[in-house]
Amino acid sequence: MASNDKSVKQGGVVFEGVSKRYGPVTAVDTVSFTIEPATLVTLLGPSGCGKTTTLRMVAGLEAASGGRILIAGQDVTKLSAAERDVSMVFQSYALFPHMTVMDNVCYGPQSMKKSRAEAEALAHDKLKMLGLAGLEKRLPSELSGGQQQRVAVARSLVLEPAVLLFDEPLSNLDAKLRRRVRQEIRELQQSLQLTVVYVTHDQSEALAVSDKIIVMEAGRIAQQGAPHELYRKPASRFLADFIGDANLVDGEVADGGRTFVTADVRLAIEGAQPGPATLALRPHRLRLVTAGAGRLPGTCRRVDYLGSHLEVLVDTPWGTLLLFTNDDEPPPAAGGAVGVDFDPSAAIVLPR
Ligand SMILES: Nc1ncnc2c1ncn2[C@@H]1O[C@H](COP(=O)(O)OP(=O)(O)O)[C@@H](O)[C@H]1O
Ligand SMILES: [Mg+2]
Repeated sequence: MASNDKSVKQGGVVFEGVSKRYGPVTAVDTVSFTIEPATLVTLLGPSGCGKTTTLRMVAGLEAASGGRILIAGQDVTKLSAAERDVSMVFQSYALFPHMTVMDNVCYGPQSMKKSRAEAEALAHDKLKMLGLAGLEKRLPSELSGGQQQRVAVARSLVLEPAVLLFDEPLSNLDAKLRRRVRQEIRELQQSLQLTVVYVTHDQSEALAVSDKIIVMEAGRIAQQGAPHELYRKPASRFLADFIGDANLVDGEVADGGRTFVTADVRLAIEGAQPGPATLALRPHRLRLVTAGAGRLPGTCRRVDYLGSHLEVLVDTPWGTLLLFTNDDEPPPAAGGAVGVDFDPSAAIVLPR
């Protein structure tokens, strides 16, 4: 019946003022967001900020203490996990160790009263799609970490859920494999037009795979938007620091919002709110120039060679700044006098 292009139902997810309290602890605090159908949205934030709790409320594995949850337009707030059209890929994969790959993938459809033949047809489809054809008879222990992860994805996909949930799916994989598997998940989501909610604490992973990122901080949403919006226009010091690398310089916005002042260095800026402010400078937007030139004088403290680029620490009147440069010039010597320059458009002014 189900061919793989028709088999995926599309459903968005809406949270309206959703909270979750555990006794005195508010794990998720009046959170509202919309996840459009056929998009991949990441919940990103430091450990303990409420990502897993939010995901489990989408799945119906935790009941909301307040607010409303809609999936594919239907109010599911009071529905159990079994009554919701979602499926979760767990961090630990949660494969049955004593069952073959085929049996693992058939388990869900069979427990939903499909015949073994129907379940196998569905499973075969998904295993092939995930590059697992030929491994049907293996046990999980006979697979690599990446293959086990794909079996876990196949096991969720075979249920043809409206929404697929991932909780830190790459945390058990090594660095090289992490990049490949995240690309695979993204390609699968795009080719099947799946709606995916993806939890991670790794900002580079979130930037790489997401249509939209929802950044959480202490149970609340700190900012949400497309990856490039969050990177270019972080809303706060926390966000500038959490997404990408940033040099943060505290100072004051003066001249009715047209100058940023700190340590006697004045920088013309576009209209900002006068008062205490923090300037965020991305390391790759800073340039090393000869001593005496540029906006800031500096002394080179340390140079690290990373193959594709250099990471340079420079002591300046604004504190120690981190620079990335891929200049082919011989690197400056530690202790040498340099100048630091940047385009004023590279300076992000944040309220403090
Ligand atoms: N079952 C629970 N009982 C009490 N507190 C919990 C429970 N689950 C999570 N919490 C608390 O809620 C907060 C958010 O947890 P969690 O959603 O797991 O964060 P994250 O996934 O972002 O690391 C943490 O302070 C955590 O200790
Ligand atoms: Mg978690």
